[in-house]
Amino acid sequence: MKIACVGAGPAGLYFAISMKLRDPSHEIEIFERNAPGVTFGWGVVFSDQTVENLQANDPKSAKIIADEFAHWDDIDVHFGDECITSSGHGFIGIGRKRLLEILQDRARELGVAIHFEAECDPADPKWREYDLVIASDGANSRFRDANEDAFGVDIDVRANKFVWLGTGKVFDAFTFAFEKTEHGWIWAHAYRFAPDCSTFIVECSEETWRSFGFDTMDQAEAIATCEKLFAKYLGGHSLQSNAAHLRGSAAWLNFRRIKCERWNSGNVILLGDAAHTAHFSVGSGTKLALEDAIKLAQVLNRSGLSLEAAMDEYVAERNLEVLKLQNSARNSTEWFETLERYTHFEPLQFAYSLLTRSQRISHENLRLRDREWLEGVERWFWKRATDGRSNKTAPPMFAPFKLREMEVQNRVTVSPMAMYSAIDGTPNDFHFVHYGERAMGGAGLIFTEMTCVSPEGRISPGCTGMWNADHVAAWKRIVDFVHANSKAKICLQLGHSGAKGSTRVGWEEDNAPLPDGNWPIMAASDIAWSPVNQTPTPMTRADMDKVRDEFVAAVQMGIECGFDMVELHAAHGYLLSGFLTPLQNKRTDEYGGSLENRLRYPLEVFAAMRAAWPSDRPMSVRISATDWAGDNGITPDDAVAIGEAFAREGADLIDVSAGQTWTGAQPVYGRMFQTPFSDKLRNQARLATMAVGNIYEPDHANSILAAGRADLVALARPHLIDPFWTLRAAAQLDYRDVHVPPQYLNGMSQLARNLKREAEAAAALRV
Ligand SMILES: Cc1cc2nc3c(=O)[nH]c(=O)nc-3n(C[C@H](O)[C@H](O)[C@H](O)COP(=O)(O)OP(=O)(O)OC[C@H]3O[C@@H](n4cnc5c(N)ncnc54)[C@H](O)[C@@H]3O)c2cc1C
Ligand SMILES: Cc1cc2nc3c(=O)[nH]c(=O)nc-3n(C[C@H](O)[C@H](O)[C@H](O)COP(=O)(O)O)c2cc1C
Repeated sequence: MKIACVGAGPAGLYFAISMKLRDPSHEIEIFERNAPGVTFGWGVVFSDQTVENLQANDPKSAKIIADEFAHWDDIDVHFGDECITSSGHGFIGIGRKRLLEILQDRARELGVAIHFEAECDPADPKWREYDLVIASDGANSRFRDANEDAFGVDIDVRANKFVWLGTGKVFDAFTFAFEKTEHGWIWAHAYRFAPDCSTFIVECSEETWRSFGFDTMDQAEAIATCEKLFAKYLGGHSLQSNAAHLRGSAAWLNFRRIKCERWNSGNVILLGDAAHTAHFSVGSGTKLALEDAIKLAQVLNRSGLSLEAAMDEYVAERNLEVLKLQNSARNSTEWFETLERYTHFEPLQFAYSLLTRSQRISHENLRLRDREWLEGVERWFWKRATDGRSNKTAPPMFAPFKLREMEVQNRVTVSPMAMYSAIDGTPNDFHFVHYGERAMGGAGLIFTEMTCVSPEGRISPGCTGMWNADHVAAWKRIVDFVHANSKAKICLQLGHSGAKGSTRVGWEEDNAPLPDGNWPIMAASDIAWSPVNQTPTPMTRADMDKVRDEFVAAVQMGIECGFDMVELHAAHGYLLSGFLTPLQNKRTDEYGGSLENRLRYPLEVFAAMRAAWPSDRPMSVRISATDWAGDNGITPDDAVAIGEAFAREGADLIDVSAGQTWTGAQPVYGRMFQTPFSDKLRNQARLATMAVGNIYEPDHANSILAAGRADLVALARPHLIDPFWTLRAAAQLDYRDVHVPPQYLNGMSQLARNLKREAEAAAALRV
């Protein structure tokens, strides 16, 4: 094949090498706009896995690269007056310039022609003479942008400013240095990539950048300012730029996240940064470029594979890798963009939060890297959780948590789940076994399902209620059992269905009206949940008084039952959520319009309930922190205002759920997918929060809690299938201090022994 590669970056060079290795008869030319040796940037980092891939593809260049690697294990986080060092991270780095020299030499040796100082114009007809044109022309690819629609280009320009500098200071550890200045926070990411040289990337928010005046400084001034700011880390060494050709503030960039729907069009194939980018804070751009190159060379040289089939395989495999990495990279990018959320943390937790920011590194992962350091974090967590009383080294999920006078023995909660199994609102033996069993399963806090304050306020005929003496007796029996047979606390979730009322039980058809016997429903406005649902009657002030009083009466009955806590359900599109969201609330009176107005009635209900509930017992509110409707609905920023408003009325905990407020929502699912909202409310508004949503492993719970992303973690579906989720986690993590019903002690110790044996056998196999 006759092939042109545009750009002699890692992608173009390594693709040419990989093609020639597979078939020396390919005619390959590389065109590079720069002169030899001219490049931006300093060092790049790799993982062990990338090195193995290079080794398998071309042992010769891999060996030269590996011989020149700088290795380091530690990460230093300088924050406040402390430096927090953790180990076991295993990085490998090399200078970008040196990497390119090695690859250029190898490409030439294999017969590739490299033309330097050759600016390529996509409009030039000469490209038609090639079988393939590889657009390895980097993030600002002209070849991609000339045909934007064909490639389906999506570019997200991120908020922070950064500049990629170098220094003669040799950093022994991968170093993050955070500095608080009168202009705001500014920080450096620094690592050694050669015996005498380190990369030094400076980053800050656009606001800080402007406040410093970086936007009007020339490069020399900007560098001098950075040298002064980071003098204590540089030990007298200077900072240097190798983008000297760029004028003024142009050396400062905003990271551009690039993805493309399609990676080929005509004879042009995108490779490396031209097709996708991953934020520099996860350090994987070069790895992706090199692995793209290997894969593309593999499929193009497989006999019997058409070009079309080859491209399909290349794009399918590489796109998946890219998406996974871009996901973690997005988390990492956002962490740096919202840095100020975390600057009130103590240095140890700040460092933990930084290390786990991408969600690729978890609590147990950190234990494998540096057990001693992680145990220090655990001790710190327990000390804080117990006001200094405990010196325990144990997983965060088992630490107690106090809300008013209620202390839960651990941080795991059984999330509210409607069981649709009551008759006339009365819980029965099913509920008795269901809640009793989950309480014995070890969770610190059990929520009841949404328990409705009136017959018309039910979602379905099977919902539990709290409006008569039968309900009080049945719930009291459950609460008494929980208190007598477990250490769990039990919280009564109260709600009213609003526009989502009078529907079938969950497992028949969610939110579908009853086949017969529907009852009239009311809501903030006359907006039907869906075309098949009834149109609710907008509530009058008299309706609002009545429903508020029903909530208060239910709270009083909750006191009779002995509940430890009450939650107001103001999420998921039910009555009060329908007031909060502009998608359901179209009122023109003082209860509609602005967020302040939409909050008025839910806050009134909450305040009335709080006044009736004992002041030594906590109350929470469940909210949907986003409508998943962009600016048309509740946004995470609105959620902060909502959380703060409820907190002012005496909410001790915000139960941060999301969505289910309109039928068009398209949530982005994934592990712990709603936790970022809890993180935002907890750390921006400084409220106690509970995270929920696809949290299913003990490792998730511990990572969320230790990173300060929530105070409690709620699991719903995992508890449906495994009431003993918490005890199983205790056995798995070898935590002995959890309460086990004495009748079950034997089973618990056997499970712990078996799991320990299995873990030891697995570890022996790894060695
Ligand atoms: C601040 C920063 C830090 C980074 N840190 C790391 C890290 O630690 N680890 C890591 O793996 N990655 C890192 N990266 C990413 C990494 O630099 C890129 O992902 C990687 O270089 C991609 O390789 P590439 O060959 O696709 O593109 P590039 O390396 O950008 O190469 C493209 C080449 O094409 C040439 N070119 C462009 N247009 C034309 C044209 N029209 N005609 C001729 N030539 C042209 C350019 O001059 C360039 O040489 C970082 C990036 C940034 C911005
Ligand atoms: C069967 C079922 C019933 C639910 N009922 C309620 C409910 O009554 N009140 C409520 O606030 N959330 C309810 N939810 C939502 C859960 O509490 C939880 O927020 C959601 O399932 C996400 O958590 P998970 O991924 O751990 O399941 C229910 C979820 C399920 C699966």
